Amino acid sequence: MGISRLLSSLGLALLLSACASAPRAGLYEQFGGRPGIEALVEELLVRVLEDERIAAQFAEVDLVNLNDRLVEQICAEVGGPCEYTGRTMAESHEGLAITEADFNALVEDLVAAMDARGIPRRAQNRLLARLAPMHRDIVSP
Ligand code: HEM
Repeated sequence: MGISRLLSSLGLALLLSACASAPRAGLYEQFGGRPGIEALVEELLVRVLEDERIAAQFAEVDLVNLNDRLVEQICAEVGGPCEYTGRTMAESHEGLAITEADFNALVEDLVAAMDARGIPRRAQNRLLARLAPMHRDIVSP
């Protein structure tokens, strides 16, 4: 095999592997854009409010505000054109005595909601990885 032939097949291999690893749709698109995120948050809140492990903690909450802040936050975290206008995670969860078990229950409900929306597992994991560091501001010490 001549050197030029070798180089051109190497080039082809590189091109093919670049295609294989090229980002598919962006993360925001994989969440269905703004309408997809609105539908996801609705699925999440339905599950949380039916989840007897944590539902009581939302009894006194302004759910319209919570819905809107979650849409903004998830949209921003997945790289969408949104601005989160809510309070910090520390401010909004202070004094709520949220436990590790509560946090895990909510994450389970979120995964179930993402599954119901048909969001690919890899995209789900990218959002979860961005939410994970918030744990320290949400769970009470
Ligand atoms: C990754 C996990 C979580 C995220 C991203 C998150 C996000 C948020 C956001 C964006 C708000 C609205 C803030 C605002 O109004 O400015 C909020 C409020 C609230 N969250 Fe969470 N949260 C998480 C976990 C939890 C858990 C595990 C619980 C309890 C089981 C919880 C209970 C609440 C309650 C009760 C409020 C309303 C507080 C109030 O209005 O005074 N959150 N959360």
